[in-house]
Amino acid sequence: MTHKKPLSIYVHWPFCVSKCPYCDFNSHVRESIDHKTWLESYLKDLAYQKQFAPNHEIKSIFFGGGTPSLMPAHIIEGIIDQINKIWDVSKDVEISMEANPNSSEINKFLDFKLAGINRISLGIQSLKSDVLKFLGRAHSSQEALHAIESAQKVFKSYSLDFIYAHPKHTPQEWDEELIEILSINPPHLSLYQLTIEPQTPFQSYERLGKFKMPNEIVSEQFYDQTVTTMINSGYMHYEVSNFAKPGHACQHNMAYWQSKDYLGIGPGAHGRHTKNSRRIATRAHRSPEKWLSLVQQQGHALTHEETLTDQESLEEILLMGLRLTEGIDLKKLDQYASNGSWRNKTAHKRNNLAKEGLITHEKEKLKTTPQGLKKLNAIIEYLLID
Ligand SMILES: C[S@@+](CC[C@H](N)C(=O)[O-])C[C@H]1O[C@@H](n2cnc3c(N)ncnc32)[C@H](O)[C@@H]1O
Ligand code: SF4
Repeated sequence: MTHKKPLSIYVHWPFCVSKCPYCDFNSHVRESIDHKTWLESYLKDLAYQKQFAPNHEIKSIFFGGGTPSLMPAHIIEGIIDQINKIWDVSKDVEISMEANPNSSEINKFLDFKLAGINRISLGIQSLKSDVLKFLGRAHSSQEALHAIESAQKVFKSYSLDFIYAHPKHTPQEWDEELIEILSINPPHLSLYQLTIEPQTPFQSYERLGKFKMPNEIVSEQFYDQTVTTMINSGYMHYEVSNFAKPGHACQHNMAYWQSKDYLGIGPGAHGRHTKNSRRIATRAHRSPEKWLSLVQQQGHALTHEETLTDQESLEEILLMGLRLTEGIDLKKLDQYASNGSWRNKTAHKRNNLAKEGLITHEKEKLKTTPQGLKKLNAIIEYLLID
């Protein structure tokens, strides 16, 4: 029996009820949305992108945003049906959806499950009312707890997102919050330090001195404290910001970090597929309206489709793969070394990094150590410069 190559599909829903002041994702607030045309366009986009991976087997589907929990369940169902018509779908496919913990969305959880969703990722961000207010979130801490309860009842697996190390946050407060979060016993947690993104209201507030972000030393303390608490509580620290109980790591995100093939459906979505052993990067138009009209006119809205050079592929595989505590197969890196073996070329550098305690490279695996995880960019730069 021949094994089909695995494929993941990302579907982007670009709308939210309001815009959070720290967020630079491709998300927009709109008065009215033509749901019929959106469904039609997703189906067309899928049919068009089938050519990039026609004989693959679907391992994961991820509805991200924006706020995909605002989508009517019939659109989700329509997209999953179309995927089933085009491809073979693995019997244990992971189908995730990001959801915001607002009442109207919680009421739709059962419909989402009936539509095919089997894993939900809730953007809780904080259980404290004052922090939710500071982050400009549209939900209360009550709604957050209610959403978690519903997710536990309805879905096979779920994840919670939190943001820490925001202005005025103290390690003591975060410690107390982590205890509360862990008492819920979630199978998966994504714990992110607040980052100030370009062209967001938070960037202006910081520049105006309305708040001050923790310095590098404090931020490292927050990170170390988070990792120690999570590991001591029985979670695998499988990626920089991601922690899972055994069997609950997010398969879809693993596909990105392991540089596997995935299609990007919807506005601004990125994709990667392989053609003649080369990696092809695709990107769709970011604007929801422009994306919709392009798909309606020409069947797709891809603005970029470029073959990555060996150097670009290597850089990407390192950037993504070294985030994972399981590391990267050295064989995979050799595949993209233009002249000679990557292993031989970098042996000296890898030995230097290992001596510094930043990586290990035994048994065909290149891995970052806990110390190395905090210096990823410097490690990658050092490995890539000729
Ligand atoms: C695509 S986003 C949003 C998903 C969903 N709309 C929500 O807000 O919960 C996924 C996650 O990224 C994180 N995130 C977004 N912007 C961030 C920032 N500036 N700093 C840290 N984390 C951020 C949040 O934890 C969020 O849940
Ligand atoms: S709800 Fe999520 S995607 Fe929408 S603006 Fe807020 S953080 Fe960004």
